[in-house]
Amino acid sequence: MSQQAPWWTSAVVYQVYPRSFQDSDGDGIGDLGGVLRRLDHLSDLGVDVLWLSPVYPSPQADNGYDISDYQGIDPLFGTFEQFDELVAELHRRGMRLVMDLVVNHTSDEHPWFQESRSSRSAAKRHWYWWRPPRQGMTAGHPGAEPTNWQSFFSGPTWELDPATGEYYLHLFGRTQPDLNWENPEVRQAIYAMMRWWLDRGVDGFRMDVIDMISKDVGPDGVLHDGPQIAGTALGDGSASYLCGPRIHEFLQEMHREVFAGRDAALLTVGEMPGVTVEQARLFTDPARAEVDMVFQFEHVALDMVGDKWHPKPLRLTDLKASFGRWQAGLADVGWNSLYWDNHDQPRAVSRFGDDSPAYRRDSATCLATLLHLHRGTPYVYQGEEIGMANYPFTNIQQFRDVESINHFAAATAAGEDPATVLSAMRRMSRDNARTPVQWDDSPSAGFTSGKPWLPVNPDSVQWNVAAQRADDGSVLAHYRRLIALRHANDVVALGDFTMLLHDHEEVYAFTRCRDGATLLVVCNLSRTPYPLPDLLPPAVDAELVLGNLPDAGPTLRPWEARVLRLP
Ligand code: NOJ
Repeated sequence: MSQQAPWWTSAVVYQVYPRSFQDSDGDGIGDLGGVLRRLDHLSDLGVDVLWLSPVYPSPQADNGYDISDYQGIDPLFGTFEQFDELVAELHRRGMRLVMDLVVNHTSDEHPWFQESRSSRSAAKRHWYWWRPPRQGMTAGHPGAEPTNWQSFFSGPTWELDPATGEYYLHLFGRTQPDLNWENPEVRQAIYAMMRWWLDRGVDGFRMDVIDMISKDVGPDGVLHDGPQIAGTALGDGSASYLCGPRIHEFLQEMHREVFAGRDAALLTVGEMPGVTVEQARLFTDPARAEVDMVFQFEHVALDMVGDKWHPKPLRLTDLKASFGRWQAGLADVGWNSLYWDNHDQPRAVSRFGDDSPAYRRDSATCLATLLHLHRGTPYVYQGEEIGMANYPFTNIQQFRDVESINHFAAATAAGEDPATVLSAMRRMSRDNARTPVQWDDSPSAGFTSGKPWLPVNPDSVQWNVAAQRADDGSVLAHYRRLIALRHANDVVALGDFTMLLHDHEEVYAFTRCRDGATLLVVCNLSRTPYPLPDLLPPAVDAELVLGNLPDAGPTLRPWEARVLRLP
């Protein structure tokens, strides 16, 4: 990448999940007033972009990822006045606002779907995927669904609408019908809506499951069954909807219709489950004009057997193989996002670090150093910057997430042991990411004056922003330094990446090089101390640029991370 590298190569994005960030009206749910109140926290951290999870009108079946009006603000979150103030306040502080764009599906309460379901001849019937029951089967009977696909939120991807006797497709929840992107009217309506937000001042979009918008449909409208998933009657339909045949055509059209002429100032990121490095190169090659970067999932699937509900420990060599392949694959063309945490992932310090009292701070800062020193744009998810950990869930009533609740019902109905199902959920449920941000040590952690919609983690007494703000040794202070380092040092932003110690199961090391300058990064992801002279001799005399523990000596201590400048 040349001298005129895009601005987002040295930027850091901060994700706000508004429901859990800060409440300003005492209803126990975070809102725009709360985001406005906490903007200083973002400026102090030094981030460049705020990605705002959905605030559009929504029945909230999937916490806003089920939109019923693309051009409004849900009163739960506030008003357009507050939204406009947020844009202005961010811009005044030199930050940008990226909206969540959820256009693979709408809510079933969206007027488009209401019209679509009203009759088989409705004007918008073909804005969604309607299909008759499987040939020879009676509507409503198990197995009569048009395909055998399993939904991401358990059960089949098809729901029968009794009024018209046909099924509609929903890859996610049954109240999240998939839009039919084959229909040019749908695409034009979405592009118009996107232009409208850009004209209002937003600086880009994070595009929800955007690699699912093109379905592999035959000329006769046929959709194909997928291979059966062991232990169920359902199949894996992903070959029919991940990176489907027209995906590049649709994204190029979107670019022409929405971004062309103003793309240099914007950030466009495609969330793409299942995307491969080879596909990501195509999506993010600037010459192809699709999106700036992808959000890929390979590294967050390495600690699973089959699916997230069957977790296993991460092997560091698997992480190195995956990250190494992504770094190499996007070295000359394209760009990647870097993340551990987001609103769909359990907390990284509990998942990949060591959240015991002795190592929580050190492992949180070690993981952060490892990630932020890669090539790509780092994303910080709210609370990650203070080392927030998983919640100690003990029973099913404590969960709010539709994916988790549906999974518990389906798995226990299929005969799995409830205690085992719950234990996997405690580790992997998305609700771990969604407990309120811990601002201080008060009973509701400064999040709300009311009753929080999801309980505050009891560890907020010790782990909170107020306690870390003035502490130079805190996780928060370390994140500040990492972000500042990316801004100041273009080796971090743009340097070439070389993985070292490929076969080591506890130490992760790599170099970044640019214009004759080399940074060596070494991170101990274990409790075992390692003498550096044996492990990485060049590290011994190198100058320390940034470390996560004081008094660096010849031994790399448990969870110690160092960024070193080689002579
Ligand atoms: C991905 C989003 O990140 C997740 O939260 C949501 O449930 C699904 N897409 C469906 O919109």
